[in-house]
Amino acid sequence: MIIAVDGPTASGKGTIAKAIAAHFGLPHLDTGLLYRAVGRQVQLNGGDPDDPADALAGCQFPDDLLGDPILRSEETGGYASRVSIHPAVRLALYERQRAFATQPGGAVLDGRDIGTVIAPEADVKLFITASVQERARRRWLEMQDREIELPLIEIERDIVARDARDINRKDAPLRAAPDALVIDTTSCNREQAIEIAIEAVETALR
Ligand code: DC
Repeated sequence: MIIAVDGPTASGKGTIAKAIAAHFGLPHLDTGLLYRAVGRQVQLNGGDPDDPADALAGCQFPDDLLGDPILRSEETGGYASRVSIHPAVRLALYERQRAFATQPGGAVLDGRDIGTVIAPEADVKLFITASVQERARRRWLEMQDREIELPLIEIERDIVARDARDINRKDAPLRAAPDALVIDTTSCNREQAIEIAIEAVETALR
C-alpha cells in the first residue's frame, strides 16, 4: 500500500505523513529532506544552486548529511527549493524515492510530486494545504521554540517565494493529483488535522 502526501511548505504534510505511517505501521520518507541535502551539499561545495551542473554535483551527498539538523533551517529550505527546479536533480533523486515507495509492504511518502510523479499509482493521495498566513504563523511558532527570532512578515514573504518557485517550475510542479483528496488544515490544530487525514485514508481504503 502506497500513501502519497503532498502539499506546500508548512502545510502540516510532514506531521500528517508521520502520523499516518505510525497508524498503519508503514515506513515513512520525507522526500523534502533529500532536496534539502542536495541544497546543503551545494552550499558546502561553494556552488550556485541555480546552476544545473553545481546542483547536480550536490546530489553526491553522504548519507549521514540526512541526519544534520541544519537541513531543517530556512536557509537550507531556500537552497532546496532552488536546486529542485533542475530536471537532472529530480531525475537523480527519482530512483531512491521510487524504490522506497515500491518496497514490499508499502510506504508513506511526503513531498510535492509523490502523487503525480513518484508514485502515480498510490492507493491514497492526500494534498495538504493551508493559507499562507497560517503557514507563516506555524513556522514562526516553530522558530520561537527553537529560539530563532524572525519577523512574521519575512517568513510570510519567504513562503510566498517558495510556493511560487515550487508551483511554477516546469518539471514536476507542486500540484494536487486529479485523484487526490485535498485537506485544508487552516483552521485545524495538529491533532484535528491528523484525525481528519487518518479518517480520509481509512475511508479511501474501504
Ligand atoms: O518539504 P520541504 O520544505 O522540506 O521541501 C524543501 C524543498 O524541496 C521544496 O521547496 C521543494 C523541494 N521538494 C520537491 O521539489 N519535491 C519533493 N518531493 C519534496 C521537496
